Amino acid sequence: MQLGLNIDHIATLREARKINDPDPLEAIFIAKNAGVSQITIHLREDRRHINDFDVKRIIESSFLPINIECSIDEYIVDFICKQKPYKVTLVPEKREEVTTEGGLNMENNKIKDVIKEFQKHDIFVATFIDPNLSALELSKSYGADGIEIHTGYYANLTLMLYSNLKNTHNSIKNLELDKNSLIQEINTSLETIKNIAMRAKKLNLGVYAGHGLNYFNVKEIVKIQEIEELNIGQSIIAKSVFVGLKEAIKDMLDLMRV
Ligand code: PXP
Repeated sequence: MQLGLNIDHIATLREARKINDPDPLEAIFIAKNAGVSQITIHLREDRRHINDFDVKRIIESSFLPINIECSIDEYIVDFICKQKPYKVTLVPEKREEVTTEGGLNMENNKIKDVIKEFQKHDIFVATFIDPNLSALELSKSYGADGIEIHTGYYANLTLMLYSNLKNTHNSIKNLELDKNSLIQEINTSLETIKNIAMRAKKLNLGVYAGHGLNYFNVKEIVKIQEIEELNIGQSIIAKSVFVGLKEAIKDMLDLMRV
């Protein structure tokens, strides 16, 4: 299973001062040496972290394939087509959200046109979807090359079970369940992810997963052999503050070895 490192939060830190430090580009060289297979960046409509200039220089300079997460906004699609990254992952986007909270609403027909547009420019396209069959089948019927399964629900359940989140103001209210219910729900969510991954593989789609994965919850996802690649950002960048990026990546890669 390969690791795609999401480096958005290096740019988040840079934007805290609006200067040019730390530089996300520097992370790519460290990531490559540490064993990362792909770099993921999200060009958000509000440019809260990665900006157009980052996209250009990262694509020009990276030795690793670049996966750009983006919405179906017309300007963004046009801009990314011109930059020609290796891969695009279509994601839903809400201005007010802290992070990408759920998968795409695949009922939106415009997604099909956007997929075709990227493919016309020789860009591989994945859709970021919740683990459900109808989103998977629509991705296939729209001609996507792959899917990325949103693991956020599973990840939130594990946070509620294994961390002290429940006792803080960040507690996820709708997941305030007793221990046994949480364990049951975690097992069900893993089964759902596995079933979607198996079905996607049968449909000949690339199968990826990500969101909220960390050093405590990644092992169970790694057991799902159909998943080829995990895209992980926040937990690795957070750990790198304390141990350095190379070490943080290596620790994650160790957990990803089966
Ligand atoms: N995959 C996709 C499609 C995402 O939108 C994100 C968040 O930007 C990630 C993976 C990484 O999530 P996290 O930062 O929680 O590891």
